Amino acid sequence: MKPKRDKNSPTRPQDLKPSDDTEPLPGKTPVPVIFFVALGLLMLWAGLFLTSNAGGFNSKVYGAYHSVQQLEALRPKSDGDKIFLEGKEIYGRTCVPCHQPNGAGVAGQFPPLAGSEWVLAPKADRIARIVLNGLQGPISVSGTDWNNAMVPWRDVLTDSEIASVLTYIRNEWGNKAAPVSVDSVKQVRGDTKDQSEAWTAADLQKISDQ
Ligand code: HEC
Repeated sequence: MKPKRDKNSPTRPQDLKPSDDTEPLPGKTPVPVIFFVALGLLMLWAGLFLTSNAGGFNSKVYGAYHSVQQLEALRPKSDGDKIFLEGKEIYGRTCVPCHQPNGAGVAGQFPPLAGSEWVLAPKADRIARIVLNGLQGPISVSGTDWNNAMVPWRDVLTDSEIASVLTYIRNEWGNKAAPVSVDSVKQVRGDTKDQSEAWTAADLQKISDQ
């Protein structure tokens, strides 16, 4: 009977178990586990990035513009365009809650700017005063009577911002009137620096708007 060989004593070469410090076989570089961890994290990040930036993969998100020419056409072309767009932005953050995005105001509370004879006057000296100090008491706008109060913006908006927002309201929603210069707003601000209260329509009617 052959003697039983001890399984743990590696006597034959095919019994040799590869140990950790064995050289890798040529052409088969081992991939470190950290690589898969990093890949997993990268894919997680990419997934999160796409979820928040890809617009839900909705074709309409990208469908709005079809060509570079179309986008070019939307860019402001002149200084007038820039002032109008700046005014639109200021309107959106200061006047919209009351006068509404369509300039129609709110019945019984906030008068319309669209079609308003105050807004469309040849000179903007009255409406510059309204924005600087606010307005209170009875006023007639486009044949309707209002009696409420508008807040002042003297300490919030600069001359240039007031000029832009007035230029905007005079040329939006079908309105068409001359742009308002920064100098004219500066002049009105200086002329009215001692005015601390809101204007009344009666006060403003004493000032020429021609
Ligand atoms: C808190 C609400 C409110 C905000 C904000 C407001 N307004 Fe007014 N606005 C009024 C009210 C109310 C009147 C009428 C006041 C009255 O009855 O005496 C008025 C009147 C006016 C008028 C004259 C009347 C007319 O309809 O033409 C103009 C012009 C005007 N606002 C422009 C602006 C502009 C520009 C802004 C932003 C810079 C603005 N308003 C922000 C409430 C507001």
